[in-house]
Amino acid sequence: MIYMSVTIGTPLQASAFKVLLLGSGELGKEVVISLQRLGVEVHAADRYDHAPAMQVAHYAYTLNMADAEELKQLIDKIKPNLIVPEIEAIATQVLVEIEQQNIATVIPSAKAVNLTMNREGIRRLAAEELGLPTSAYRFADSIESFRAACDDIGYPNFVKPVMSSSGKGQSRVKSFDEVDAAWEYAQTGGRVNQGKVIVESQIDFDFEITLLTVRAKNAETGEIETQYCDAIGHRQDSGDYVESWQPQAMTPVALEEAKRIAHKVTAALGGCGIFGVELFVKGDKVWFSEVSPRPHDTGLVTLASQFQSEFELHARAILGLPVSTSRHSVAASAVIYAGVDDRNLSFSGLNLALANPNTDLRLFGKPEGFKRRRMGVATARAETTDQARKLALETASQVSVQQN
Ligand SMILES: Nc1ncnc2c1ncn2[C@@H]1O[C@H](COP(=O)(O)OP(=O)(O)OP(=O)(O)O)[C@@H](O)[C@H]1O
Ligand SMILES: [Mg+2]
Repeated sequence: MIYMSVTIGTPLQASAFKVLLLGSGELGKEVVISLQRLGVEVHAADRYDHAPAMQVAHYAYTLNMADAEELKQLIDKIKPNLIVPEIEAIATQVLVEIEQQNIATVIPSAKAVNLTMNREGIRRLAAEELGLPTSAYRFADSIESFRAACDDIGYPNFVKPVMSSSGKGQSRVKSFDEVDAAWEYAQTGGRVNQGKVIVESQIDFDFEITLLTVRAKNAETGEIETQYCDAIGHRQDSGDYVESWQPQAMTPVALEEAKRIAHKVTAALGGCGIFGVELFVKGDKVWFSEVSPRPHDTGLVTLASQFQSEFELHARAILGLPVSTSRHSVAASAVIYAGVDDRNLSFSGLNLALANPNTDLRLFGKPEGFKRRRMGVATARAETTDQARKLALETASQVSVQQN
């Protein structure tokens, strides 16, 4: 017997299949476009008006998604089939309840969203429950316990608020002299004023990768299967990705180990959808770093490299549809920053950036820019990853940002 998957109705009509996106950034925008193409009715929420994904959704809502009451009311009003978190700063307890009461399906699962919003949850799951290799680590919630943790782990180490992303509040501590400053900095960068930090030993890796891992239903049996995109290499600057490329060359042993780790952690988190599994690699050795239960920023490169980008993979997987992770090109992506703090920015030089048929751009349409805010991305295809990286960086640099 062939298994029958989802039925998609007509958007804006009683039969609509509704998805509520929590967080409406540039990654969500691409997911929305993919869902729109499949006739899904999309509702996009964020904390500010005109966020990227709101601009391509059927409905948009501005609210504080970390507020349990506000979030509950929104879900009650929309009655979505699926809830798709795109950011970590959400009242995740509400999602746990929604899932328990069978009101909507949380993507990929309430457990995944809940555990990955906090570095402590996911680190303890990976290292202590699943026995995966990670850096050595300690948690601390006071200056005294923090000093002790730093001495225990040694130097250099990495300090991160347990509730933070994109490098916020994060520092690399080279010696005991820097410990108190790192504590102060971590206290300002966390998402909630919770104070807790993780101290990690520095992994001396050759390179780091994102292994995009998709859990999707088999078209015939409906069983959830795990598939992997080719490894994505990336370069980080101050905890934020600046360029990525696919494929990243690695030894067959390291690749198998990366898949083993990704399989274990994504199976433990459960549900359907794409996961960005961040790994450090040295020779044949691989360490788990962290995982996003959603498309990953470094995966923007898949817009140029794969038949189904990470966004299409996510859209299909969450709808219970089959996926293919196959890649048609070697490609790279490079980030375009605002470079200034201002609203209402303009972008020029696009003619030059797009003159080469192997390049492409995404401009996210964010209403406000900050110096280090990602406003767009350039992608490029080439024969080799080195050539693709060079072309993507060139393309990004041809776009100039102007104040009005
Ligand atoms: N233990 C470590 N050893 C070596 N490098 C590390 C370690 N921890 C973090 N880094 C470096 O810092 C980067 C950012 O760390 P991490 O991914 O934990 O932070 P983040 O704030 O979640 O960033 P993002 O949200 O962009 O993924 C890593 O990609 C890596 O380059
Ligand atoms: Mg990371």
